[in-house]
Amino acid sequence: MKNYLEAYKTMFNVKEEGKLYYSPGRVNLIGEHIDYNGGLVFPSAISIGTYGVAGKRSDCFLMLYSDNYPHEGIIMVDLNQLQFDKSHGWANYAKGIFHEMKNRGYDIPFGINLYIKGNLPTASGLSSSASLEVLVAFIANDFYQFGLSRTDMAILAQHVENNYMGMHCGIMDQLIIAEGIKNHAILMNTATLEMTPSKATFDDYQLVIMNTNYKRKTTDSKYNERVRECQEALNILKNKYDIDYLCDLKPYQLNEIETFLNHHILFKRVRHAVTEQQRTLDAMDAMKNADLLTFGKLLDESHQSLKNDYEVTGLHLDTLVDAAKQSGAIGARVTGAGFGGCAIALVKNDFISRLEHEVQVTYYTKTGIMPEFYLVEFTDGVKKII
Ligand code: GLA
Repeated sequence: MKNYLEAYKTMFNVKEEGKLYYSPGRVNLIGEHIDYNGGLVFPSAISIGTYGVAGKRSDCFLMLYSDNYPHEGIIMVDLNQLQFDKSHGWANYAKGIFHEMKNRGYDIPFGINLYIKGNLPTASGLSSSASLEVLVAFIANDFYQFGLSRTDMAILAQHVENNYMGMHCGIMDQLIIAEGIKNHAILMNTATLEMTPSKATFDDYQLVIMNTNYKRKTTDSKYNERVRECQEALNILKNKYDIDYLCDLKPYQLNEIETFLNHHILFKRVRHAVTEQQRTLDAMDAMKNADLLTFGKLLDESHQSLKNDYEVTGLHLDTLVDAAKQSGAIGARVTGAGFGGCAIALVKNDFISRLEHEVQVTYYTKTGIMPEFYLVEFTDGVKKII
């Protein structure tokens, strides 16, 4: 981390020390694709994420540099011209935050130099973009003393993702990155933003994150398609039930819902949302009771529902998950949006190396791609280090 402080000074050719910040990535244990349906989700902030070093400027420019995209060099942005610009690539996430703050009437009297270094794999379901957005919101809040709460910052960052970047995501990623608690997962009610932390330790098991290393370009459009399908189903069902969200419906109502929703695909989407909500509640209970076998079974069921009803998995994720199960995982599922990206597996400590080896062989043989594995800790949310 000292290196980042030095790199910052060299990059911007300044003598003053910058301030160092860290924003985690996230893993979602269960409750997938229901944060835009008023559902319960159960994510943790993780020990891989995005570092930022920032310093004040005396003019009105943002100077943005990411060591993950060195070929793009320093991107210079006038604080009076913050509209989305495709040629600014990754820096649009940072610009979007400033844009939104200005829109909300916050005064931004001076510019900032910002050096970014992330160790999250990008576009892989561990929320590298939300990590960056919340980092920038936190830094801006610190520099300009806006007094925003962590939840305010998460909501603002989600707004940027929705309206500036065009990805119609829910609040889960930004909220857990802002509000994470060391060694905990947080049950989040995405309708009320109520949060219930739960100690997330797995005894002699560990959560292994498995990266398909398969990047589908259509993730955002497919994601937005699912959001639209849920909205369509909700509009129909609102005429029959007194509900605000799909997750207000209960599993026992599904048979009846099927008769109202005369559309097979929409029904499958609803069935996923409603059953996933129940699984998340059950998983929280299983974790409280240290019943890891039940917890694992719920992970498996979640994956099957995301595969068959929600159709967001695909060959790469399914192969990883099946191989992990074959190698002794007591539960495995996709985490995050899907369509590629990462899966998680709950594995006995002693079996981790064997599982990684076997999964690698099976996955490579089937897809020709090498997967990657990460063992992470659950951490606090975004913070200032120095
Ligand atoms: C992405 C989105 C989240 C959530 C997940 C799926 O990570 O950003 O809001 O919808 O997908 O659970």
